[in-house]
Amino acid sequence: NPKSRQLTPHFLWGASTSAYQVEGAWNEGGKGSSVIDLANHTEGVTDFKVCSDHYHRYKEDVKLFAELGLKTYRFSIAWTRIFPNGRGEINKEGIAFYDSLINELLSYGIEPFVTLYHFDLPQALAEQGGWGNRETIDAFVEYARIVFSHFGDRVKFWLTINEQNMMILHGNALGTQDTSLADPMKALYQENHHMLLAQAQVIKLCRQVLPNAKIGPAPNIVSIYPASSHPEDILAANNYYAIRNWLYLDMTVFGRYNTTAWHFLKCRGWTPKIEKGDMEILANAMPNFIAFNYYTSQTVARSSGEEVEKGHTGDQHLTVGESGFYTASRNNHLRVNEFGWEVDPIGFRTTLREIYDRYQLPLVITENGLGAFDKLVTDEQGNPTVEDDYRIDFLRLHIEQMLLAIEEGVEVFGFCPWSAIDLVSTHQGCSKRYGFIYVNRDEFDIKDLARYRKKSFYWYQKLINTDAKAL
Ligand code: BG6
Repeated sequence: NPKSRQLTPHFLWGASTSAYQVEGAWNEGGKGSSVIDLANHTEGVTDFKVCSDHYHRYKEDVKLFAELGLKTYRFSIAWTRIFPNGRGEINKEGIAFYDSLINELLSYGIEPFVTLYHFDLPQALAEQGGWGNRETIDAFVEYARIVFSHFGDRVKFWLTINEQNMMILHGNALGTQDTSLADPMKALYQENHHMLLAQAQVIKLCRQVLPNAKIGPAPNIVSIYPASSHPEDILAANNYYAIRNWLYLDMTVFGRYNTTAWHFLKCRGWTPKIEKGDMEILANAMPNFIAFNYYTSQTVARSSGEEVEKGHTGDQHLTVGESGFYTASRNNHLRVNEFGWEVDPIGFRTTLREIYDRYQLPLVITENGLGAFDKLVTDEQGNPTVEDDYRIDFLRLHIEQMLLAIEEGVEVFGFCPWSAIDLVSTHQGCSKRYGFIYVNRDEFDIKDLARYRKKSFYWYQKLINTDAKAL
């Protein structure tokens, strides 16, 4: 019975957001623009200008997080609030905002869990070559150094880069890929190499200057199934594991490219240029833990090498067949959510086991949750709410599997669903909601942005209060 499982003392029950999806105030308080601000500020497309207006309402939000019972709140610092141009002059207003947010959280006993970089590369750096330019590595390290020196006295948990693997595998979708280049994929894997170097230096720096803090990566890691027991399908799954999951974590923990991933890059002419000293930097940084985001598993089949792009619309991340290596498939054993994403709690348990067995580092889940079209209704007391039993079911099933994995010996010290409060989804606007707290706005009608507790709010509150005994 997973409910009887004793969790580690001070298990970090939390919830997550990211700066560009929740804060709004995209050009206020001295903030500079990021690539994601600009990529989406087109009329009629997802709008990240106001979001949930958390920048102005963070006190009200943190009070609700405290009522929810959060032990930790995972949020990201917008690089462009600290350095509007990515480097150079520091924006004091940005420092002041995160100072107040952190102090507010601590005043309620909520542990801040801070992501340094969540898709929002400063536009000024992008214009100078972005991650393709090695100077961006120095800019990121300097940004981290400033952030550590200002907030390191209070923040004990740090995340380097959110979903670097998604930025590389789906660079197009996140506006991070420059498709005008002659060989955009080669350029992307060069950027990847630079991001890994930047991450390694930041991990090393954190461990030097903040010896009592802990730092780790936050990729999106999932179980990958072969479409059948055909040996070539199994090989395809093995291939996809190597380039989707292990490439990133092997580099972070072991400081080396795995053989299959390197072969994949080599065959396509995509191997990055590795400068003298790079491999030493990568080998000399050890994270304290591994954080990962999990929404769904993935299934792949053998590829004849002739497939055209065949991702399924509605998949979390469009999986495109790589000629001769693998091709995207479906898993008929899984149901899908309203957005076509497969729901797979057991895959979550498998993922936990796989990561822990490979790296033997403590794990924390930094995203897991259900995006849905929530409907505002009135409860018996006349208060607006959302009857989101579907979200409760999703989270219950995943937490149950996490507790079983813990029972089996996997070391997990926190669970942070996506998201603490409604925010703008990365790909599908703000009518796709994830939060425990409803934000009263529509896609393009900002309304009054009032906050309402959903049914899942009360469910998660009870779960935290009882350390999951009331699952
Ligand atoms: C993760 C990201 O990829 O998935 C989040 O870290 C994102 O930023 C989340 O919001 C859910 O994806 P989406 O597209 O439904 O917002």
